[in-house]
Amino acid sequence: MGFSLKLCPLVFLLLFFLAFSFSSSSSSSSATQLCSHEHATFLLQFSSAFSINKSASECEYFSSVKSYSKTLSWKEGTDCCFWDGITCDNITGNVIDLDLSCSNLYGSFPSNSSLFLIKSLESLNLSNNDFNLSKIPREIGQFVSLKHLDLSYSLFSGQFPNEITHLSKLVSLNLSNFELKLEEATFKSLAQNLSEIRELILSEVNLSSLNPRYVMNLSSSLIDLDLSSSDLEGKFPHNILQFPNLKSLTLGGSEQLTISLPKSNLSSPLEFLDLEYMRCSELFHSISDLKSLKVLILECNLEGSIPSSIGNLSQLSMVDLSSNNLSGNDTLEYLNLSHNFLMALEQIPWRNIRTLDIRSNMLQGVFPVPPIKMIFLLISTNNLSGEISSELCKANSLEILDFSHNNLSGMIPNCLPKLSKSLFVLNMQANRFHGNMPSMFPKGCRIQNFNLHGNQMEGLLPRSLVNCRMLEVLDIGNNNIKDTFPYWLESLPKLQVLVLRSNKFHGFVHNTKANSSFPKLRVLDLSNNNFVGPLPVHYIENLKAMVNAQEDGKNSAQYMGGRFSYEYSIMVTMKGLFIELEKVLTIFSSFDLSKNKFVGEIPKVIGKLSSLKGLNLSHNNLNGSIPHSLGNLTNLEWLDLSSNELVGEIPQELVSLTSLSVLDLSNNQLDGCIPQGNQFNTFENSSYKGNPMLYGFPLTKSCDGNGMLQQPLGSFHGKVHKLWEFGWRVVLLGYVCGLVFGLLMGYFAFQIGKPKWFVTLFVGQHNQKARNVKKA
Ligand SMILES: *[C@@H]1O[C@H](CO)[C@@H](O)[C@H](O)[C@H]1NC(C)=O
Ligand SMILES: *[C@@H]1O[C@H](CO)[C@@H](O)[C@H](O)[C@H]1NC(C)=O
Ligand SMILES: *[C@@H]1O[C@H](CO)[C@@H](O)[C@H](O)[C@H]1NC(C)=O
Ligand SMILES: *[C@@H]1O[C@H](CO)[C@@H](O)[C@H](O)[C@H]1NC(C)=O
Ligand SMILES: *[C@@H]1O[C@H](CO)[C@@H](O)[C@H](O)[C@H]1NC(C)=O
Ligand SMILES: *[C@@H]1O[C@H](CO)[C@@H](O)[C@H](O)[C@H]1NC(C)=O
Ligand SMILES: *[C@@H]1O[C@H](CO)[C@@H](O)[C@H](O)[C@H]1NC(C)=O
Ligand SMILES: *[C@@H]1O[C@H](CO)[C@@H](O)[C@H](O)[C@H]1NC(C)=O
Ligand SMILES: *[C@@H]1O[C@H](CO)[C@@H](O)[C@H](O)[C@H]1NC(C)=O
Ligand SMILES: *[C@@H]1O[C@H](CO)[C@@H](O)[C@H](O)[C@H]1NC(C)=O
Ligand SMILES: *[C@@H]1O[C@H](CO)[C@@H](O)[C@H](O)[C@H]1NC(C)=O
Ligand SMILES: *[C@@H]1O[C@H](CO)[C@@H](O)[C@H](O)[C@H]1NC(C)=O
Repeated sequence: MGFSLKLCPLVFLLLFFLAFSFSSSSSSSSATQLCSHEHATFLLQFSSAFSINKSASECEYFSSVKSYSKTLSWKEGTDCCFWDGITCDNITGNVIDLDLSCSNLYGSFPSNSSLFLIKSLESLNLSNNDFNLSKIPREIGQFVSLKHLDLSYSLFSGQFPNEITHLSKLVSLNLSNFELKLEEATFKSLAQNLSEIRELILSEVNLSSLNPRYVMNLSSSLIDLDLSSSDLEGKFPHNILQFPNLKSLTLGGSEQLTISLPKSNLSSPLEFLDLEYMRCSELFHSISDLKSLKVLILECNLEGSIPSSIGNLSQLSMVDLSSNNLSGNDTLEYLNLSHNFLMALEQIPWRNIRTLDIRSNMLQGVFPVPPIKMIFLLISTNNLSGEISSELCKANSLEILDFSHNNLSGMIPNCLPKLSKSLFVLNMQANRFHGNMPSMFPKGCRIQNFNLHGNQMEGLLPRSLVNCRMLEVLDIGNNNIKDTFPYWLESLPKLQVLVLRSNKFHGFVHNTKANSSFPKLRVLDLSNNNFVGPLPVHYIENLKAMVNAQEDGKNSAQYMGGRFSYEYSIMVTMKGLFIELEKVLTIFSSFDLSKNKFVGEIPKVIGKLSSLKGLNLSHNNLNGSIPHSLGNLTNLEWLDLSSNELVGEIPQELVSLTSLSVLDLSNNQLDGCIPQGNQFNTFENSSYKGNPMLYGFPLTKSCDGNGMLQQPLGSFHGKVHKLWEFGWRVVLLGYVCGLVFGLLMGYFAFQIGKPKWFVTLFVGQHNQKARNVKKA
């Protein structure tokens, strides 16, 4: 029994199906084809009108779609439902979806094409072919079931046939094509008849005869309207923003088109607004009412001022304000455009701005001279290069100046310390500055956070820093500073974080004042220098803040800085990883004297620093045994005493360090049995390697006398729960996740950055639109 389905009424069809399924299953299947024979014939006739020509489709140049000749797989006698580009209704066998986009089709489109006989089509995509500037045949109106029509970039030309208005079921219509023309009359009936249209893309279609007010006749189901580069003229009706579903509006590229937004009461779900290369004066009155806005492109000769409330557009992720005249009489005082894709400083209207946050953009060029009245300038994490002009020193109202993480070089202007009478924060971290540090910090210096980490500074640490009595954070790690230990900083009453790591500091570390040195210090990082002599016992005895970091009251965790909604970040080594803490909790405390030439014993008194989270004395020449008092450091999470000359047993007291997650005692001369229990059940061989006389779990040599203690792995004690309490998710999102399983990450948040998909999505979309505009 043959099983070929013709275009018969559905009822018959169902009966046929039923009959078939009850009949013997021995009926042959070789002859059964889902595809209607008629449709197969139509398709083959249709495709035979065109030749295959690689230069007809160039999709790979502007999208991730690869061009290839789908019709090559179309063979007579095979089931057309399995041909490339074809989808059938699997009950009727009718072709309902034809996608021949990017298929290298070349040739004139015949008006008697058999394609028009396939009336079941619901979706037709012929975009990106070369139809040799044919007219769109009026027969297109016969596709009465069509919901999606995409003829974009397929080199049709001429007037759009009126019959397009018969396609009343259309949901999306894409006719982007710069040879096409759509008359006002056709547009009007289109607007009237396409009651279900959601996406209307007429980019580059010549709409010069259309009065823009007729767009208001379009269906209110509209979500995406793109009339860019369409030669529209006159006033675009701003009421379009009252369309309840409109999320994307692209009008740019028509130089004679103007738009102004209503003065108030805008309430619109608009997310994407592109008005480049048109006229959009007076736009700004109510733009901040567009609360859902994510992408805003306004290269449109804007004059006047941006309302400060633009900073309240919390969804905004990309702004392009380039090529405007916003510098004129701009009353804007606060502008936050951080984490955008700003490329050029000229895009920023900053004459009167007092607070500018443009962190994490893509700004290039030289460091700008800020206006004299500026108070906050946050321009970190961009690509600025070149030297800093001493003109900067005129901005003597600055309180926060952060140009860290750029590519700036040269010497730091000598006049910069003058600004310290107003500056609270001076962050120059991670640039390429060299030369001596500016030296003349005046009396009355107010700097609280001074960060020069990761540059190439030389010479001495300026003694005048002692004038900065408010100093809380001093981070000059990773430079070439050649100096002795700055004991003269010990009187600074508020210094909490002192990072001198990876410089050329040398000599003994000793104190002058016995009782009141570094009263607030809780993060000390001297690692990787040339310090010699014994560990500084007297300092250790007096580091009150490390004895009780919560001394200042407040049980609830607070971040450093934050007063000006600017939180301090510092670079620290935690658990063997060098990372940037984007925010620093005021209870964070660590002591790192590793990679120096310290000698002698580890003083017992170190057991008093009970707030310590981390202790690193590795890579020195320390000898003697590990003090039992370390068992008093109950907050300790990492302990590294590796690569010294320590002898004796590992104190049993260390078992009580139930927060400890990283232990490194390797490369010493320790002996005896490794203590067992609690966290010690979790450490691996690597914690002990290079101590030939150590025994017991996890090493293979069992303990003398008692035999090998076999503790099951994973019998953690309660502290593990802390991992979850302290935002373990942050760890999973951060870039060190795999490495540091088992860390307690409550003390900081990583900079996660914008996800890749986001950049691709918005920059990609923008580029596509830009491409359209350029084509015109
Ligand atoms: C291929 O198409 C291009 C235009 O897209 C045309 O100029 C060229 O002549 C065509 N080549 C052939 C062999 O038809
Ligand atoms: C085709 O059949 C599949 C199941 O085999 C079903 O999920 C799908 O909806 C059908 N498609 C149509 C267009 O009927
Ligand atoms: C038509 O095909 C192109 C290229 O494959 C694709 O980008 C586009 O989204 C398709 N159009 C529709 C309406 O699906
Ligand atoms: C392209 O159009 C021109 C002018 O209408 C015509 O002479 C030529 O034969 C067409 N070429 C193809 C390949 O259809
Ligand atoms: C279309 O018309 C041309 C002549 O104009 C003819 O040669 C061709 O067979 C027709 N094609 C169809 C599918 O009717
Ligand atoms: C609207 O579409 C119907 C068919 O769907 C058609 O008969 C009618 O002429 C169309 N109206 C206009 C104004 O084109
Ligand atoms: C044409 O527009 C539709 C509707 O917005 C869209 O889905 C499609 O991707 C567009 N086609 C191309 C080739 O970009
Ligand atoms: C659009 O059409 C008008 C009127 O027909 C014409 O003057 C204008 O040059 C066309 N624009 C383009 C870009 O072809
Ligand atoms: C189309 O818009 C015009 C102007 O806004 C209006 O006068 C007319 O009534 C509208 N027509 C329809 C059918 O909605
Ligand atoms: C704005 O909306 C409010 C409440 O919806 C209304 O009372 C007020 O009159 C509107 N203002 C204007 C200028 O339309
Ligand atoms: C500039 O702005 C002030 C208000 O800030 C206004 O009084 C003045 O008229 C404006 N000047 C011009 C030329 O627009
Ligand atoms: C460690 O704690 C014990 C018991 O609280 C105490 O006796 C001892 O003095 C402490 N050691 C140090 C060095 O603080």
